[in-house]
Amino acid sequence: MTRRTVRIAMNGVTGRMGYRQHLLRSILAIREQGGLDLGDGSALWPEPVLVGRRDLALKTIAERHGLDEWTTDLDAVLADPGVDVYFDSQITSAREDALRKAVAAGKHIYTEKPTATGLDGALALARLADEAGVRHGVVQDKLFLPGLLKLRRLVEGGFFGRILSVRGEFGYWVFEGDWQEAQRPSWNYRAEDGGGIVVDMFPHWEYVLHNLFGRVTSVQAHAATHIPRRRDERGEPYEATADDSAYGVFELEGGVVAQINSSWAVRVHRDELVEFQVDGTEGSAVAGLRRCRAQHRSSTPKPVWNPDLPATESFREQWQEVPDNGEFANGFKAQWELFLRHVVLGTPYDWDLLAGARGVQLAELGLRSSAEGRRLSVPELSL
Ligand SMILES: NC(=O)c1ccc[n+]([C@@H]2O[C@H](COP(=O)([O-])OP(=O)(O)OC[C@H]3O[C@@H](n4cnc5c(N)ncnc54)[C@H](O)[C@@H]3O)[C@@H](O)[C@H]2O)c1
Repeated sequence: MTRRTVRIAMNGVTGRMGYRQHLLRSILAIREQGGLDLGDGSALWPEPVLVGRRDLALKTIAERHGLDEWTTDLDAVLADPGVDVYFDSQITSAREDALRKAVAAGKHIYTEKPTATGLDGALALARLADEAGVRHGVVQDKLFLPGLLKLRRLVEGGFFGRILSVRGEFGYWVFEGDWQEAQRPSWNYRAEDGGGIVVDMFPHWEYVLHNLFGRVTSVQAHAATHIPRRRDERGEPYEATADDSAYGVFELEGGVVAQINSSWAVRVHRDELVEFQVDGTEGSAVAGLRRCRAQHRSSTPKPVWNPDLPATESFREQWQEVPDNGEFANGFKAQWELFLRHVVLGTPYDWDLLAGARGVQLAELGLRSSAEGRRLSVPELSL
């Protein structure tokens, strides 16, 4: 098989997502499998150039994985005509500037969400990228999770009949950092650094709802900061200025009502860290990250409300496991592969900067809805 190289500047690889999901589980995993088979007798070989702020941290990662190229000079990397793609998984507030520079330098763009800190910036990026004629993609990893792929199979197979509602439950306890270390970075809890659960999670909910059930047409959200003081990576106390929980109701095109709770201040009594229950006239399903269980109307039991007696039925056992019927790759890697094919072969790719802007729009309107205490409609975006 002949080898074709694509050089990717990866900015933010010292971070949680950049290192584990994008470098290790995606780009290096593609290399371990011998490259990406392009189906024409050639394999695409991703060559990462690690970009960041701390030379030593980058060098350590490069050496650990046998990589040759790293730099703290973003401008130089963007000026290098040999670099094809710019990827960004930096802290959210640093993203828009870097993406603008990369577009101006004519690089194809692949980026974590949210693409910008406000809708105007997100839309401007999408326009600039189109005008520059570069290809662009935004991470929408949840769509590629086994649980949601099985849920999509049920939707596309008509299992639900008319879909009525979606209820999502996401979250876990993020430690305050005083007596046990926090498992998320402290900037996530500072609004001035681009933190907050609405900004973080509403972009995910937008593309999940949009792709599976219909475009979000209105939002009513209540955001809260349940834990107002936390300790940072150095053990120093700080004020949590961003929301750590959000309770949202979304109306979708076609009339489906979705209600999603997102929280970093909740203890898990669920099978998975995120679960969506979908109820339809013909059947219901509960999908998590990996599993999906369904109950058809023909096998729906008839529970009787009687608080005077203990429950005699095991409700969870009344559901049927939806089988895998195939192997699922890591969701981030699956999307990287589609994006790289799009870059080199021009294959269709829908999850672009305009799609990313919809996520930013929903987060912005969600926060405004919460601040103003009212339901807001979500206008359809176009460029
Ligand atoms: N797709 C997903 O499921 C998912 C999940 C979590 C986070 N994210 C997104 O990924 C991005 C990175 O999140 P993370 O959890 O990896 O964060 P992180 O704090 O672990 O990493 C942040 C990265 O940005 C760099 N950086 C640049 N400027 C910085 C600054 N001024 N302060 C601190 N770091 C700076 C850091 O060096 C580091 O490489 C965010 O935009 C976030 O929204 C996506």
